[in-house]
Amino acid sequence: MIWRAFNFPRYRLVSLPTPLEKALNISRDLGVRLYIKRDDVMELALGGNKVRKLEFILGNALAKGCDTLITRGAFHSNHARLTAAAARKAGLDVYLVLTPPGSPDLQGNVLLDKLLGAKMVYAKDYREADKVMQELADKLRAEGRKPYIILGGGASPYGVLGYIHASLELMQQLYTIEEKPRYIVLATGTGTTQAGLLLGLKLLGVNDVKVIGISISRNSDEARNRVYNLINDTINLLNIDMKVDYSDIIVYDDYVFGGYSEVTREVVDTMKYTALKEGLILDPVYTAKAMYGLIDLIRRGCIEKDSTVVFIHTGGTPIPFQLNKVIEKYL
Ligand SMILES: Cc1ncc(COP(=O)(O)O)c(C=O)c1O
Repeated sequence: MIWRAFNFPRYRLVSLPTPLEKALNISRDLGVRLYIKRDDVMELALGGNKVRKLEFILGNALAKGCDTLITRGAFHSNHARLTAAAARKAGLDVYLVLTPPGSPDLQGNVLLDKLLGAKMVYAKDYREADKVMQELADKLRAEGRKPYIILGGGASPYGVLGYIHASLELMQQLYTIEEKPRYIVLATGTGTTQAGLLLGLKLLGVNDVKVIGISISRNSDEARNRVYNLINDTINLLNIDMKVDYSDIIVYDDYVFGGYSEVTREVVDTMKYTALKEGLILDPVYTAKAMYGLIDLIRRGCIEKDSTVVFIHTGGTPIPFQLNKVIEKYL
């Protein structure tokens, strides 16, 4: 049934597969077999999970004849940066509606947005940003343009398709090295990545792998509802007869550390830990919080010793350069 997900237009942005790396030192330290799926290693503008989503979102936009992309995100949004890069590659115009948290200073992702020639508009929060996106689209339409609005974080069934494909790619890599994973752990924001992995595994008939989302902002129920709705919207898009149980959606909200983009000592300590153990750079908004969660779940026994665990490195490479001041406080 997974082949249904191959029937949608896709605009190629990245050479796949991304690497699957065994984290030998961390594995030894924590007593599990830890693999890291390096979705931060991609050729488009420093990569990240948004690239996989954008391949199908862009496929849909181009099939509709659109000439301009509009999206929104925080000042340090990876999604905004990668939407700008994807637009450039496809020869489209691009508007970004940026909001706090963060600052519009030319650092990290904002610097790259500027370099990519994105037209930047500011709003005070995401509600206002959604309104601004609609007004911008109306204005462009009146000028004869064909705008395409991408929801924050690429949260749509087309975005989910990207991680349905990724689930097949990951399982192929694991089977090739004769590893049978028990857990896949990742940072969950809009829930699009988690929805794609969960639905992809279900479509592959893999029922014994738990996908664990570590929320970086929302409480667990809210995050699980988002994943559930995205899965059901994608089932409708694929026009298949399938049901994912709500109880299969696992999201921990114990590792938000004060809120979206709040950086604490624990977060920076986790960045230092992976850097020292593996030379692996995490970002403080998404991947370091997810890695902290993974380590703590092993300590708590929620992830058993000796099990095979895959951590999805979802990207965020420019963010440490943008939040350098707060990282420096705990270095
Ligand atoms: C680096 C990184 N990791 C994880 C996420 C969360 O992904 P999703 O919105 O698909 O849950 C994002 C989204 O902004 C991200 O940029």
